[in-house]
Amino acid sequence: MNIDYNETIPNNVGLADDRRLLRALERWQPAYLQWWNDVGPVETSDFEVYLRTAISVDANGWAHYGHLRMPEYRWGIFLTPPEENRQIAFGQHKGEPVWNDVPGEYRTELRRLIVTQGDTEPASVEQQRDLGRTCPSLYDLRNLFQVNVEEGRHLWAMVYLLHAHFGRDGREEADEMLERHAGDPDKPRILEAFNESTDDWLSFFMFTYFQDRDGKFQLAALAESGFDPLSRTCRFMLTEEAHHMFVGESGIMRVVKRTCELMREHDSEDVRPHGGIDLGTIQKFINFHYSICLDLFGSERSTNAANYYSMGLKGRYQETKIDDDHVLTDAHVIVPRVEGDHIATEEMAALPAMNLKLREDFAMDSQRGLNRFNKAIREYGLDVELTLPDPAFNRNIGIFRDINATPEGRLISDDEWQTRKYDWLPSPDDYAFVRSLMVPVIEPGKMAGWISPPKRGIHGKPIDYDYVLFH
Ligand SMILES: [Fe+2]
Ligand SMILES: [Fe+2]
Repeated sequence: MNIDYNETIPNNVGLADDRRLLRALERWQPAYLQWWNDVGPVETSDFEVYLRTAISVDANGWAHYGHLRMPEYRWGIFLTPPEENRQIAFGQHKGEPVWNDVPGEYRTELRRLIVTQGDTEPASVEQQRDLGRTCPSLYDLRNLFQVNVEEGRHLWAMVYLLHAHFGRDGREEADEMLERHAGDPDKPRILEAFNESTDDWLSFFMFTYFQDRDGKFQLAALAESGFDPLSRTCRFMLTEEAHHMFVGESGIMRVVKRTCELMREHDSEDVRPHGGIDLGTIQKFINFHYSICLDLFGSERSTNAANYYSMGLKGRYQETKIDDDHVLTDAHVIVPRVEGDHIATEEMAALPAMNLKLREDFAMDSQRGLNRFNKAIREYGLDVELTLPDPAFNRNIGIFRDINATPEGRLISDDEWQTRKYDWLPSPDDYAFVRSLMVPVIEPGKMAGWISPPKRGIHGKPIDYDYVLFH
């Protein structure tokens, strides 16, 4: 399925044949570009960036690579091709043909799911807007911008669904996507993790490791949807998401390696005097980002989540590979429960525990990368392990919101939390130190001192390639 680039909005959804929809999206397009210029990457409109652009949604060769100015990136609407005779895989409509139009009775729920997902996309661009000024290398600068333009495209993907399927309400929601802003006290983004600042590159790599992985799991659950346009949209977004997580995982890995190198060289855990980020600080950043991302999955007990599943709107991760009845009306799961000064467990119905299921899949996936970091640390002969904090640590949503816990999951008093929280979370001093390392390196092939070079360049290009041209 090739993409039509002759249109003002590249697409593979036959936009040319739907003049009303095309006109509505053409009206939204200048507002989008204005948003990109106002709150997208700072002072970058002249940069020519070596970017990939989707040219086809087929698995082989969907991307074209070349230098271009970001405001000229061809943001468009790409859905994976429809699967013939696809059926709803779960919930009370299991076995029925998928919907190509929004079922009237589920309109509110579907719109809410799409708006919540859509809102995170421009939020991340806003959160990352200043990072270009302090890139550790041209290679990294290019990766940042690639992620940014693709998050912009993800917004297009959700806005298309709103415009195509939700009439006037949808158009209003699409406008509001550009009116809320990350961290804006009056009109913040919907989810809290998307209002945090991301103004150093360690935070950026953590963001693309954890927040983008939350994105992967949300998109994967929506890709199971009985509403086929949503499913097909999310399937294509997932191909882009994979690169974002690569940026995160390889970024953290390169920081860890550089730190280990410095630890060996100076025979000390304290690599700060040598311009490295000590493993203790890296652990604190992991603790912070992981815990705020667990909140993104919502409460462990959620009627909304149960409804989304039963209605066939949002499935589980890899729903069709799970061996059960995919209806789950009789199924039960074990969930944690705060009992006095410790955490016990209890049994509850599986349907309202959908958020917890997705969160646990996310946790397992997050651990896999940590295992790779730890393997690298061991290869330097060092006896340190990076870990994910307990789900009870630093939480604002769900079962653990009213308690305090250590990263090991031991419940502690408010007082102890207040005195010790910066043993576990980045303190203002930690942030200040990390920020002090953020000096731009823009000579091709050169790397900042706190990060090791990547294994290879992008798309077969050497590491010292001119990934970004300044004018
Ligand atoms: Fe995204
Ligand atoms: Fe992403």
